[in-house]
Amino acid sequence: MPLVQVAVLHELGPGQLTEISVGNSTYAVANAGGNIFCVDGICPHAGGPLGQGALQGEMIVCPWHGFEFNCRTGVNDSDEDLILDRFPVVIQNNTIFIDVPK
Ligand code: FES
Repeated sequence: MPLVQVAVLHELGPGQLTEISVGNSTYAVANAGGNIFCVDGICPHAGGPLGQGALQGEMIVCPWHGFEFNCRTGVNDSDEDLILDRFPVVIQNNTIFIDVPK
């Protein structure tokens, strides 16, 4: 899969969450305490934009109805069978890339 540039490291500081679109897909990229994670950006509940939600510790909170997903594991906080796809993150030259299908 090709690397897609997300941001320069300092643009996504600890506690920040962003959304990136690649082709027809949307991803949520989170900086949880200095560790960067990438998960599917579409909430499996009803399609909410997870990358526009809030990041609380490692939990991404969907802006539509408040479902919470761990950005490290992709797992929902109340239904462990509800899991977001996760994608590799690569840091090169202080720049964040995600390794996603194009
Ligand atoms: S769409 Fe995400 S919680 Fe409902």
